[in-house]
Amino acid sequence: MPTVAIIGASRGIGLELARQYAADGWRVHATTRRPESPGALGEVPGDVVLHGLDVRDEAAVGALARALGDDALDVLVHNAGIKDGGHSRAEVMRVNAEAPIAVTEALMDAVARAGGRIVLVSSQLGARRGSRKSLGDYGDSKAALNDAVRERAPRWAERGVTAIVIHPGWVRTDMGGSAAPVSVDESAHGIRSVISRLTPADNGRFLTWRGDEHPW
Ligand SMILES: NC(=O)c1ccc[n+]([C@@H]2O[C@H](COP(=O)([O-])OP(=O)(O)OC[C@H]3O[C@@H](n4cnc5c(N)ncnc54)[C@H](OP(=O)(O)O)[C@@H]3O)[C@@H](O)[C@H]2O)c1
Repeated sequence: MPTVAIIGASRGIGLELARQYAADGWRVHATTRRPESPGALGEVPGDVVLHGLDVRDEAAVGALARALGDDALDVLVHNAGIKDGGHSRAEVMRVNAEAPIAVTEALMDAVARAGGRIVLVSSQLGARRGSRKSLGDYGDSKAALNDAVRERAPRWAERGVTAIVIHPGWVRTDMGGSAAPVSVDESAHGIRSVISRLTPADNGRFLTWRGDEHPW
């Protein structure tokens, strides 16, 4: 049975990814900050294993890696993220740029066992397109994530994994708001389709949920 880990699956795009993979018969390791009251995630039918994780908590990241034991992850999606309103710049950088790398490296053995695929959810707002000016705290954090993945992907590939960053679309979620043109269903279907088509040649790329190359 193929296995996926979705980091940040309590709502929005992560919850929909968990639903779709579980409906397709995958084993889903899904993380939430509230495992004792998981809400909609707790009602997803299928082989869904819930794990408590705040991505800022290093000890909890280590505990998740240990909880996976000898399981192999065919796919790891790091989806958790925050926007800038109401959070300090340091907090936004920590959650959006530093934690995804720490989580990915902590779970690397599990992904490597499967020769699996790693998708870090970034944003078009993190594309600098050659400009050095600030993109705001959120954009800067996603640009920093993109840079970190681009830098590390060649080394990660030596473990037999393929890693990309993805723009999920402007999606109708708590973060994207009700005016966003893309539904969670479309975004999650698109992301899953991109993942299913990844080859080692894609390692280190920045793609959209439609599978197009996104400019850095
Ligand atoms: N929606 C868009 O238009 C859009 C566009 C571009 C990129 N993105 C990116 O796509 C990803 C998902 O976005 P979304 O729209 O689905 O957002 P969302 O509805 O706000 O959901 C965010 C998810 O991240 C989790 N999370 C936040 N901080 C966390 C932490 N410290 N530890 C663990 N989990 C944490 C949340 O958990 P809680 O429920 O515990 O808060 C929730 O599951 C994010 O990385 C976002 O930056 C979204």
